[in-house]
Amino acid sequence: MSQKDWKTRLIHSDAHAPEGFRSLSTPVFRGSTVVFNSVNDATDAWDQFELGYTYGLYGTPTALELAARVCELEGGHRTILTPGGQGALSLINLALLKAGDHILIPESIYGPNRRLASVVLRRFGVDLTLYSSTVGSGISELLRDNTRLVWCESPGSISMEVQDVPAIAEAAHRRGALVVLDNTWSAGVLFESFAHGVDVSMQALTKYIGGHSDLLLGAITVRDPELYRQLGATQQLLGNAVSPDDCSLALRGMKTLAVRLETIERNALHLARWLAERPEIERVLHPALPSCPGHDLWQRDFTGSSGIFSIVFQPSFTRDQVRAFVDALQLFKKGYSWGGVTSLAMAYDFHGNKRPAYAHRIVRLNIGLESVEDLKADIQQALDTPSVS
Ligand SMILES: Cc1ncc(COP(=O)(O)O)c(C=O)c1O
Repeated sequence: MSQKDWKTRLIHSDAHAPEGFRSLSTPVFRGSTVVFNSVNDATDAWDQFELGYTYGLYGTPTALELAARVCELEGGHRTILTPGGQGALSLINLALLKAGDHILIPESIYGPNRRLASVVLRRFGVDLTLYSSTVGSGISELLRDNTRLVWCESPGSISMEVQDVPAIAEAAHRRGALVVLDNTWSAGVLFESFAHGVDVSMQALTKYIGGHSDLLLGAITVRDPELYRQLGATQQLLGNAVSPDDCSLALRGMKTLAVRLETIERNALHLARWLAERPEIERVLHPALPSCPGHDLWQRDFTGSSGIFSIVFQPSFTRDQVRAFVDALQLFKKGYSWGGVTSLAMAYDFHGNKRPAYAHRIVRLNIGLESVEDLKADIQQALDTPSVS
């Protein structure tokens, strides 16, 4: 074409930036359409690692770099990204289950994961049994011929029980069931899923990989090509694309994960040990403390601890007192999610939901990067508030 109208030039320009820019960050590649050389090259195949790029839905280079890096850290075969942690766990269930299957879920699993099973999966004919998080090899008594998945989350949400994942995996594999782990607490680096028998390891990247409370992403890392195929094919049909901008933030967050985790671990341990000595506190549920169910398993299987743990107030504390304590905190903000740089607190209620008998007395803390002395002073002043003490 010899002469292009300016309107065409707006779309098909001959002007280009100079080449050769080399920076230290991954570019943000946005795009839905992927351009093919010829119509014969065009395909809708989803596996961009094997077949090259075909459509933005299956990941631009920004997303695939993040996936590859998470996979490298988790030590798996491949990683698939999802728009959030909840999206990751729902994809796992939808990809690997069919009507007539049975799944096992620990009582301490992240609440929306449990509700997904009890509400949605049940509607599609999947049967569910909740098991005690500390069951260990006793899981074999709960496994059935049609048990397809055994979910684990270690430590569990809020009540923090550390699970005997290798014992569960051994029993599950003997009966032909797959083991899926929510590995978010370990940030995919403090617990080696695949070395402990896990088949599918998921993480909410929203937490420690993102690390700054400003994005939602999930990751599913699999042990082998067949699981990758099943998950990838279902992901294609569910159409849950991730934002390249969020992936770029997660790639940036990942670079400082080690230093953040180191400080967060130190701060959290300091506060957990201090709280364990306080007369108002009955128990501290931090995997690195003997008072946490499964502490010996944490010592055996983990290489460190991260920054969420829970405290249980003495039985004399009323619901109003516990809530007044959380409300009196100033540096600790009140909010869901965790893994960011800001300390958070949230009160829970374990009445009538098959959780340990902590009732209204349990409060979960997310420890951030503030000065640990300031965080301690904040907790101290909240404990001293008249409506609490
Ligand atoms: C253990 C655990 N898994 C999964 C999720 C879900 O992650 P997202 O908030 O990214 O959907 C959360 C969120 O709080 C979580 O705590």
